[in-house]
Amino acid sequence: MESPHVLISLARDCGGGSVTVGVQRFIWDYCISKADGKFYVPYLKSFLKKIIVEVESQGFEVLDELYEQLTFYMTSLKDDDSAKENSRVLKYISFLFPDDCRELPSCPETRKLVVTLQCSLNTLEGDTGCSIWPSSLLLSEFILSCPEMFSSKSCFEIGSGVGLVGICLAHVKASKVMLSDGDLSSLENMKLNLELNQLSTRVGTSERPSEDLEVVNCIHLPWESATDSELQDFMPDIILGADVIYDPLCLPHLVKVLAFLLSRGKLLSHVYNRSSNGVLLSSAQKNGAKNSSDSDNLDKAMPKDSPNVEYASKKGPLAFIASVIRNVDTFNRFLALADEANLGVEDVIEKIVPFNLLPYLQSYPRSSVRLLTIMHL
Ligand SMILES: C[S@@+](CC[C@H](N)C(=O)[O-])C[C@H]1O[C@@H](n2cnc3c(N)ncnc32)[C@H](O)[C@@H]1O
Repeated sequence: MESPHVLISLARDCGGGSVTVGVQRFIWDYCISKADGKFYVPYLKSFLKKIIVEVESQGFEVLDELYEQLTFYMTSLKDDDSAKENSRVLKYISFLFPDDCRELPSCPETRKLVVTLQCSLNTLEGDTGCSIWPSSLLLSEFILSCPEMFSSKSCFEIGSGVGLVGICLAHVKASKVMLSDGDLSSLENMKLNLELNQLSTRVGTSERPSEDLEVVNCIHLPWESATDSELQDFMPDIILGADVIYDPLCLPHLVKVLAFLLSRGKLLSHVYNRSSNGVLLSSAQKNGAKNSSDSDNLDKAMPKDSPNVEYASKKGPLAFIASVIRNVDTFNRFLALADEANLGVEDVIEKIVPFNLLPYLQSYPRSSVRLLTIMHL
């Protein structure tokens, strides 16, 4: 559901500057005639209208099938049908692995991983948890780019929303996937999405998460009411979160949850320094202690020509939080609270460069997403 303008500009590119009859035939054969119940009709109607206007304005011939389909939509769809506030649609996110990713354990043979997600057209529905936010796209690209960082790790996500990150964690074979959200309707939608992607689920509140490795746990966890004894049951190796730093009122509770989950275990070292060749080294590694499997795995997964990162040898959990900074004051408040809670926050987006697996998704503001690592000091 990219904006119709984006699709038309792609169609123009395919036709060498105009939407030729050949390109229209492709659109009809591969997209619209196969849409049958799969796509949101008001969206298709708007796309057809715009593409016909585009072709006509260039003085080209419009394919009969496109006219007929638009007429069908105009007569069968009343205008108020398109205005349904909480309409749900299915979105298909295709992660396209470039040639040099073939060796990655996360790369399917077809080099394409398609995730199906039911989302709301209303971004505020389910306390914003029924839409896909850009940070979860970046976090998913990161997980798929560095699968060995997450495989065999117990992973816990806060504010999981539609569940995309959890589906990627299950794909790279995290040993345990625990997803959580404070909103019950988001939780219900998340469970449906996991099942749409052939994952078994278990919904829980305060019970211990399932030990069954095949099961993704969906946990109702509002940060405000999360108790230490409840959090103690999770004990993850890695904590994840996407687009969760935005509401100033929730920040103290969010930081409290992060601090508790991160406080298990002790860090040996987590300080990064830039060496002369631009490679980042932790102090432990500079002293010759390059024995972390995380470090090796991350190195292997990085695109060859991208900035590299060597991971510190550490014990204890680590959090990866992807975030778009929409309000600097809110973000700074988060940093101040994290500091008070003895959490070290580092922006690693320039050090950890995930593969661009969504090159076609023009509405995804990839460069505006930051990736933070958080550790207990
Ligand atoms: C902007 S959405 C991001 C959803 C998803 N992580 C993504 O990036 O697509 C924020 C998510 O955090 C959840 N959330 C917000 N405040 C929360 C709170 N106080 N406790 C638990 N979850 C909360 C919302 O329900 C929602 O799912």
